[in-house]
Amino acid sequence: MRETVAEKLFTVEQIQARVKELGRQLSADYADKNPLMVVVLKGSAMFAADLFREMAVDLQIDYIGTSSYGDSTESSGHVRIVKDIGVSLEGRHVVLIEDIVDTGLTLDYLLRTLSLREPASLKICAFLDKPSRRKVPVPVTYVGFSIEDHFVVGYGLDYASRYRQLPYIGILQLSPE
Ligand code: IMP
Repeated sequence: MRETVAEKLFTVEQIQARVKELGRQLSADYADKNPLMVVVLKGSAMFAADLFREMAVDLQIDYIGTSSYGDSTESSGHVRIVKDIGVSLEGRHVVLIEDIVDTGLTLDYLLRTLSLREPASLKICAFLDKPSRRKVPVPVTYVGFSIEDHFVVGYGLDYASRYRQLPYIGILQLSPE
């Protein structure tokens, strides 16, 4: 298959403006709550780094790694934690930072698993959302952009471990050679 990043969906400027707004919203909602921001690796790293610098509240940052798609554009449906959070969630206001919500399987699993650790609250902030692809409903409180059913790359999002470093969001097209 030949891959091309055919179309820019969101430019650097659009991304910056939206991330700034999300940072402002989270700062207002989590003022005095000392949130624990949990970055879902790896795709969210770039979004998280930008978002946290727009947040004017005391916060802590930790990371969780889940099993990935492999080299396909379709979810295997099997989710597992491959790198766990290093601190206790008990009594903490936790915000999961995700790159994109697709089928919802990853976040559904994480919400069920992490809520057993008794956080004071557990919310999701996702940079992108593809609601038309949902297989299980997940409550996503903060969303950067809702998009149509495209496979997108850039700004941390990959296809077969590539394109993460693009500063914009592009639509990946796969066509026969
Ligand atoms: P879900 O479990 O199906 O909601 O998938 C979540 C994960 O799938 C995301 O964290 C991404 O790693 C990956 N993913 C889903 N859609 C895309 C896409 O359009 N581009 C890149 N990765 C994607």
